[in-house]
Amino acid sequence: MSRWDFVGRTDELNRLLSAVGVADGRGLLFSGSAGVGKSRLLREGVAALPTDRYAIWSVAASATTAALPFGGLVQVLPAAQPQGLSPAGVLRWAVDVLQEQAAGRPIVLAIDDAHLLDPPSAALVHLIARSENATVLGTLRNGEQIPLPIRALWTDDLVDLVELGPLGPSETTGLLAAILGGPVDAGSSERLFRLSAGNPLLLRELVLAASGGDELSRRYGIWKWTGRLELAPSLTDLIDTRIGQLTPGVRAVVELVAFGEPLGLQLLEQAVDPADVEIAEERGLISMVHDDRRLNVRLAHPLYGEVMRRHCPVSRTRRLQATLAGLLERVGKRRRDDLLRVAVWRLDSGTAQDPALLLDAAAQAFGRYDVPLATRLARAALDSEGGSDAAELLATILMFGDRPEEAIVVLDQVAGAIQDDRRRGRWLTARGMVSYWGLSRESTVEEIAARGAELTDAADQARVRAFEAIMRLHRLDVETAVRLAQTVLDRPAAPMAARELARCTLAHLQAAQGQYRRSATAIARVEAEAACWRGDMPYLQLAMELARGTRLALSGDLAGIDAIVADEFADLAGAGDFRLGTGYLAILQAYAARLRGRGDEALKTSLGACAVLATSRVYAGLAHAERAQAAALRGDAGHAAEAMAEADRTHAPGMAVLYPWLEQARGAVHAVAGDLPAAVKHLCALADRLREDGLAGHELLVLLDLVRFDQAAAAVGPTCTDGGRRTVAQRLAELSEQVDGVLPPLVARYARATLDGGPDELLAVADGFAARELIVYAAEATAMALHRMGRSRSGATGPARERLADLLRRCDEVSTPALRLLRPTLTEREWEIGRLAADGSTSRAIAERLFLSTRTVENHLQRIYSKLGVAGRAELRAALRSMPGHDGGDAA
Ligand SMILES: Nc1ncnc2c1ncn2[C@@H]1O[C@H](COP(=O)(O)OP(=O)(O)OP(=O)(O)O)[C@@H](O)[C@H]1O
Ligand SMILES: [Mg+2]
Repeated sequence: MSRWDFVGRTDELNRLLSAVGVADGRGLLFSGSAGVGKSRLLREGVAALPTDRYAIWSVAASATTAALPFGGLVQVLPAAQPQGLSPAGVLRWAVDVLQEQAAGRPIVLAIDDAHLLDPPSAALVHLIARSENATVLGTLRNGEQIPLPIRALWTDDLVDLVELGPLGPSETTGLLAAILGGPVDAGSSERLFRLSAGNPLLLRELVLAASGGDELSRRYGIWKWTGRLELAPSLTDLIDTRIGQLTPGVRAVVELVAFGEPLGLQLLEQAVDPADVEIAEERGLISMVHDDRRLNVRLAHPLYGEVMRRHCPVSRTRRLQATLAGLLERVGKRRRDDLLRVAVWRLDSGTAQDPALLLDAAAQAFGRYDVPLATRLARAALDSEGGSDAAELLATILMFGDRPEEAIVVLDQVAGAIQDDRRRGRWLTARGMVSYWGLSRESTVEEIAARGAELTDAADQARVRAFEAIMRLHRLDVETAVRLAQTVLDRPAAPMAARELARCTLAHLQAAQGQYRRSATAIARVEAEAACWRGDMPYLQLAMELARGTRLALSGDLAGIDAIVADEFADLAGAGDFRLGTGYLAILQAYAARLRGRGDEALKTSLGACAVLATSRVYAGLAHAERAQAAALRGDAGHAAEAMAEADRTHAPGMAVLYPWLEQARGAVHAVAGDLPAAVKHLCALADRLREDGLAGHELLVLLDLVRFDQAAAAVGPTCTDGGRRTVAQRLAELSEQVDGVLPPLVARYARATLDGGPDELLAVADGFAARELIVYAAEATAMALHRMGRSRSGATGPARERLADLLRRCDEVSTPALRLLRPTLTEREWEIGRLAADGSTSRAIAERLFLSTRTVENHLQRIYSKLGVAGRAELRAALRSMPGHDGGDAA
């Protein structure tokens, strides 16, 4: 059947074109019921775009592509995907490739049936939608489950969602004329409209059925339907009837395509009679599409596939899948995806016997972070005698799917069968990882140390040592950790992954010690070697991220945090189940938001981190501690205390290395509860402990907290030879020589300024913080300056107030002890009068409005001026605005 003209839908078409044409415009998704015309509309819209102006990619997701990671975008991505990238890396690579091919032209990505995208493809689409020069268009069928990243397209305002309704009566008449190639009489058209309810697909099927049964006739050029079909058939029944009339040969064609699309034509013709392929195409059941220089066969409409698959008995389904796998194996797997396709067909058809194939496919699926598929494949590999290699992979995948108990069972089942030392070493480390981090069993460290020593080969030993080293660091056995990591690095025989793991361990410690330069160099090296370790030890990524995140957070490098969050976070989150990675990055993101004074965002993001990490104990304590900090920043004592209790409850002893973060949060929780003495005492003791542990990076931040509480003169550290102890300010001066970066000297200067510097010095420090986007610290230093000025009644308060107001405008909810210092106690009435005066009302106007005498208003104003330390009305507005929690405008 030849394609007929497109009818109606002018508004929708215009909307689509302007979504692409308008600069900064949003994308567009059409949703609607089956057969209503979404795909056709999208196709027509995309065809109308000038190809020289835009780089356009059109893809159609389907039930079969949904089973494969990146199956949905396989037509867009180059066949050769670089090896050794993290899942986020793959996504970034994909975006880069598209940008490169677009060569500066705006990108248009059109996805038909976007609800059928596999998780990594959906994540990639989301990422592309976020790029500045890209527009995402697509269709969604109503009532289907929609992948989260796609749903997020409109909740994040990246696209508009438009419901596509049925055709109206006149459009239906037009469509009938288009299908039949001539006008239709009014009565027929009206009946067909009623029967089809304006659904184009149904209309088309009705017409087809009618023309097959001679119920359509043409007189004097006008079509007339004599059909007696009175009951409205359902779409699927109709399609079913039509497909049901196929010859066995044609049915075989449609079935193979239904389970295997997109299927190479050459491949298909090896299994069926080419004549039947032609018939299926002529009858409009399948269609040919050019993909990347090969001719692929697809179903002409997704509903055909659904009907076909639903009616196919299980035994036949399995036979078809086995046939497809066999076909692809015979011609040789050409694309990287072919391996996965064959493996999935083998698995689904119950004919998976080749453990090597399954293992390869499982590793590939895990590498693309399709955790559910990877789990299925790895389990099948194990079941078909995949041995300890399969067990190791399955256990690792289970561990990262937060199922450590199952992982241990899997490993223990193969324990007896391991023959050689290399496998024993790998088994030992996989089991150690699951047991230590997954199940919080601390005795694991001694176990793997003892059993590792029994291995004879130096390379195998090094692998176990590297794991022991990072476990030791995590439980704060720092000396042994360093010694072990160093031996691994010194041993030429050590496998690459073991060396890089040891390097991460040292880099994490260096960050905590404030040696940011060395730490950064080490991590850059680990990253550069990613291709060499990723296949062997994909989870090394986590160790790397923790080391890098610790450095960025401690050095106050918010831009650095932004960069890695933008890089990895959303992608990983979208791609699915890599919860430890997602959760940790969310903690960092919350941290950056908090230091910027974005209290709401910090709280929301840290809550998200807590949720993602709820089923694992590795970072749960850290997430709740960050939530406590966010709540404290917003002045919410109750929430902060609750979060802190949760942090204590969930914090795993095996992650003792994170204690500084938890304890620092505890200080903030004391302070927000109004118990400043307890906060100070706690932080002083913490600073001493950190000093003893040599964790200078953390110590600096704790001392900074003390300065923020105006405690630069507090005594810390051991008693010196002169019999006295050092002050916070003195210790900070020492640390500014030891800890890398620009933050330490700034913090030391801050401490000095609070002790003996004038307000100007404090303002200069505030500028230093503001330049690094450390807005809360900047606002607090400014507030302290104002506080000092208030005492000295200097005339410079006006500009300083303006600056504070500016800083606070960049924050939302913040309420910290230093900022509260500034909040004088105004009565309700004083607030009311102050705000009106600041808005420009005269005393008379205020008096009239509040039913007071002008004199009373004047008296109130004088009191307000003196409480706020301002000279008069002119400064009032800035003064009120610079008070946290009161913007001087709306009611507080
Ligand atoms: N405006 C139109 N003009 C001409 N033909 C149309 C129009 N809308 C739909 N059709 C035809 O109707 C049939 C069904 O439309 P289409 O495949 O676009 O539906 P759909 O909404 O994408 O369905 P599904 O949810 O099953 O994917 C197709 O053959 C299509 O060419
Ligand atoms: Mg469609």
